[in-house]
Amino acid sequence: MLNISERKDPWWLEWVLMTSALTVFMGYSGWATFQGNNYQFGPYRSPFYPFDFSIGNLSPAIFIFWIPVLFRLTCYYWRNIYYRSYLLDPAGCAVNEFPRGYDGERKFPFVLLNFHRYFVYLAIVLLFIHWKETFHSFTYQGRFGLGVGNMILLFDSVVITIYVFSCHALRHLFGGRVRKFSCSSCTKLGHSVWKLNTIFNERHGIWAWISLVSVIVADLYIRLLAQGVITDINTWRNF
Ligand code: FES
Repeated sequence: MLNISERKDPWWLEWVLMTSALTVFMGYSGWATFQGNNYQFGPYRSPFYPFDFSIGNLSPAIFIFWIPVLFRLTCYYWRNIYYRSYLLDPAGCAVNEFPRGYDGERKFPFVLLNFHRYFVYLAIVLLFIHWKETFHSFTYQGRFGLGVGNMILLFDSVVITIYVFSCHALRHLFGGRVRKFSCSSCTKLGHSVWKLNTIFNERHGIWAWISLVSVIVADLYIRLLAQGVITDINTWRNF
């Protein structure tokens, strides 16, 4: 019989949960990206659709979806998750690797994962656009207002910002190359940013999950509003 692991605890439970959750989230994201309708309601716009731009019948989301996809795909935390979930490489700690041993990210195609340090810059640009849409969601027909929708979008923007700025590549950029933080005011400032980054970086995986769930909740909420399934509680009273 194949001896997968000597572990006696239900190590496979985490594998089942992570794999199921990741599959559901990826499935939903793929579906939402190619829908091309019901992504806007009143001042609210789905985070999957930050641009009002399309060609023909193409969904506007397909012009930018590759940025968050490549950013998350190459993220050090998500690599850990999908290496375990889909590649079983290995499926858990102290579990046999199957079907082959992990040999790092030195060969094609895995070597491409090292481009994460560049995708983080694209993610930051997208983050600015995301925040612009969030601010925009507080104004409708020239009037400022508060609603459940803009609270959800605000929460989403905050957690995505924390996820992006807790990135390991950014942490290296802020302080990983520096031998001495006390040399100049510039390196001292870098040290402060690095310390702040480290606080969130220690829980990078949690922010990765929260930000993934929040973007889906925001998209789903706006879709349900657009389809008339639910109504938004807000100070405008109607849209
Ligand atoms: S390591 Fe996860 S976003 Fe950079």
